[in-house]
Amino acid sequence: MVKSPIKAVAAVCLTLGLALGVGSMSKTVAADKAATPAQSYVPGLGDIMTAGVQPRHIKLWFAARQKNWPLAAYEYNELLEALADAKTYQPRWKDLDIGEMIEQNTAKPLANLKKTIDDKNEAAFIQAYIALTKSCNSCHKEAEHPFIVVRVPSSVSFPDQDFRPQSH
Ligand code: HEC
Repeated sequence: MVKSPIKAVAAVCLTLGLALGVGSMSKTVAADKAATPAQSYVPGLGDIMTAGVQPRHIKLWFAARQKNWPLAAYEYNELLEALADAKTYQPRWKDLDIGEMIEQNTAKPLANLKKTIDDKNEAAFIQAYIALTKSCNSCHKEAEHPFIVVRVPSSVSFPDQDFRPQSH
């Protein structure tokens, strides 16, 4: 079927008109969005635990078991930062002083664990890691969440990350 030139021009105009119309509509939406200030996101304690604390706790284990001490030291620091985030973003959670509870439960086991990483002592690391893990659970109990139980990881849950020391 051959379209008449006039019909073809009309079709192009219509398409252009629609495109321009839609374009200016979306501009209006964008302008409205810009006018409304974005709500600042405050992560919940469970979010910080799941997204920050838990993965670092797991990765730290696999790094040290592979005797990848630079990675273990890195994951250790990330774990500290994640715990600090809990204090920063949820200082008062259900009327509990989260910073104080983290300090009371984990400061000593964390310091002991750090030493085993610095010493590159795998046997001592394993014991210190178990002690830290217990301290996580004692805080969960204190916070009336005894059903949240962490343990020494049973399998690597990050299949895309190589935990072995790199030669270079
Ligand atoms: C303040 C003491 C405290 C310490 C210390 C603590 N947690 Fe938690 N954790 C909590 C609380 C409270 C919750 C529940 C938060 C919620 O319901 O929003 C929680 C939740 C969790 C969860 C469950 C998240 C979910 O949605 O399933 C995991 C996993 C977790 N913590 C891991 C850890 C690990 C690993 C450590 C130690 C390295 C640790 N936590 C140390 C208080 C603590």
